[in-house]
Amino acid sequence: MSVCQKTLPVTGADTPQPGYRVLWIEDHELAARCVPGMFFELKADRRDQANRLYKPISVYQVREGRMAFMVKEVGEGSKALCSLQPGDGVRLIGPLGNAFPLLNVQNILLVSGGVGYPPLSFLKSCLPPSSRVIHLHGGASAKDIFPCDIVCTEDGSAGSKGRVTDLVPSVIAENRIQLVYSCGPQPMLKALARMVEGIPHFVSLEAYMACGIGVCYGCSVPVGNEFKRVCKDGPVFNAADIDWEKL
Ligand SMILES: Cc1cc2nc3c(=O)[nH]c(=O)nc-3n(C[C@H](O)[C@H](O)[C@H](O)COP(=O)(O)OP(=O)(O)OC[C@H]3O[C@@H](n4cnc5c(N)ncnc54)[C@H](O)[C@@H]3O)c2cc1C
Ligand code: FES
Repeated sequence: MSVCQKTLPVTGADTPQPGYRVLWIEDHELAARCVPGMFFELKADRRDQANRLYKPISVYQVREGRMAFMVKEVGEGSKALCSLQPGDGVRLIGPLGNAFPLLNVQNILLVSGGVGYPPLSFLKSCLPPSSRVIHLHGGASAKDIFPCDIVCTEDGSAGSKGRVTDLVPSVIAENRIQLVYSCGPQPMLKALARMVEGIPHFVSLEAYMACGIGVCYGCSVPVGNEFKRVCKDGPVFNAADIDWEKL
């Protein structure tokens, strides 16, 4: 499938929490090609030194020809994206990456941490309506929390205090979970992979990206006996295939 490079105006923007920005961009053709798990390389359409690199950002929502991206401000690139207002330009390359496989099972658990929330939120909206889906999300504090079923924070300012993985064993046992999807920081994903061994588990990995389009191999991760590129072969992998010890 072809990858597009475009500059488009932001058609809507809001601040769901301090330090986060949701950007809406309209493009019917691109929106129709987005499936959960995919991401775009984005950057603000500005000429300044701090804003020279594209940043990988997951598709958060798709609605009536528009795509939404939820960006957390962490460094210069994401700060420039978070400052965008309706009418400002954004440069996009995408859609990139593969997709979460959609399996028709009854009890599904979604586990997200930090900016792992946007792709799992999009995934939830696309799962079969016959499935029972529980979305568990964790963040550092209440300002990292967004709508879902069960929340926890490291400082206890929203939901239960602790890490999202603390809640997983009881949620799995009480809800007969048959399938897990996850996205978040690598330590969280590593711990989760150990906990849910034996249950089908698909994980979207975060990695530092340079080119973002499969050329530089800078985002390679150990999968089976080889290395795979998160940007091109992923970001979604079967957790059972990842060599978690080497990651
Ligand atoms: C496939 C994919 C999808 C992503 N989706 C989203 C999303 O939907 N929303 C969102 O806000 N962010 C998302 N990210 C993370 C986002 O790309 C980074 O936060 C962003 O590139 C940081 O760029 P910066 O210039 O703002 O900060 P930088 O100056 O590059 O870094 C600031 C800080 O963030 C850390 N950091 C940067 N990139 C990463 C990374 N990939 N993993 C772990 N730590 C990192 C750096 O070590 C540094 O401490 C995604 C990343 C990937 C790989
Ligand atoms: S970032 Fe260059 S190959 Fe993935």
